[in-house]
Amino acid sequence: MAKKRLAVFASGTGSNYDAIVEAIQKETLDAEVVLLVSDKPAAKVVEKAKANQTPVFVFEPKKYAGKEAFEADIVAELKKAQAELVILAGYMRLIGSTLLEAYEGRIFNIHPSLLPSFPGLDAIGQAFDAGVKLTGVTIHYVDAGMDTGKIVAQEAVRIEDGMTKESLQQAIQEVEHRLYPDTIQQFIESGE
Ligand code: GAR
Repeated sequence: MAKKRLAVFASGTGSNYDAIVEAIQKETLDAEVVLLVSDKPAAKVVEKAKANQTPVFVFEPKKYAGKEAFEADIVAELKKAQAELVILAGYMRLIGSTLLEAYEGRIFNIHPSLLPSFPGLDAIGQAFDAGVKLTGVTIHYVDAGMDTGKIVAQEAVRIEDGMTKESLQQAIQEVEHRLYPDTIQQFIESGE
C-alpha cells in the first residue's frame, strides 16, 4: 500500500510533529509528511521542518482579508502537495468551512485533555487549576466547533499529588507522542 500523505499543521514547538516523523522513520507509521503548514513564521516547528527537508507553507493570517482567504491558499497548497490527511498538532485556530469541505472526514486534532472537559486554550492549566485527579489526551475528528468533533481515541493521565503544571504537561506530552502516531496508523489500516 502506498504511504499516506500527511500535512501537519502546527504553530509551536512541534514535539508532536517530531513524534510523527520518528514513527515514520521507525516504520511504525506508514506515511510521509508532505507538507508542514504554520501560521507562525517564527515557530520552532518551522525550523525543524526545514531542517528535515519537509516542504513548508507558512502564512501570516493578518496579511489576508480573513479565514476564507488564507484557507483557500492552504487548500491550494494541500492539493499541490497531494496531501490526503490533515493532522493538527498544536495549530491553535478554528478550522473554517473552506478547509472542512475540502478535507471532510480527513482532518484530525490532538487536544491535551479528556474532551469534552477543558476545551480551548491551556487545557492542561485548566485541568490543573480545577483540581481534577484525571485528565488526559484526546484525538478527534475536526468539525466547525472548538474541540467538538467525534472522538477517535482517548487516554487518561493521572494527576498525582505533588505534580506541577510542568510535570503534568510532560506526562501528557509523553502520551501524545505515542497516541497520535498510533491512532493515525490505525486509521490508515482501517482503510476508511
Ligand atoms: C500539544 O500538547 C497539543 O495537544 C496542544 O498543543 C500542544 C502542541 O505541542 N493542542 C491544543 O491545545 C489544541 N487545542 P507541540 O507543538 O510540542 O506538538
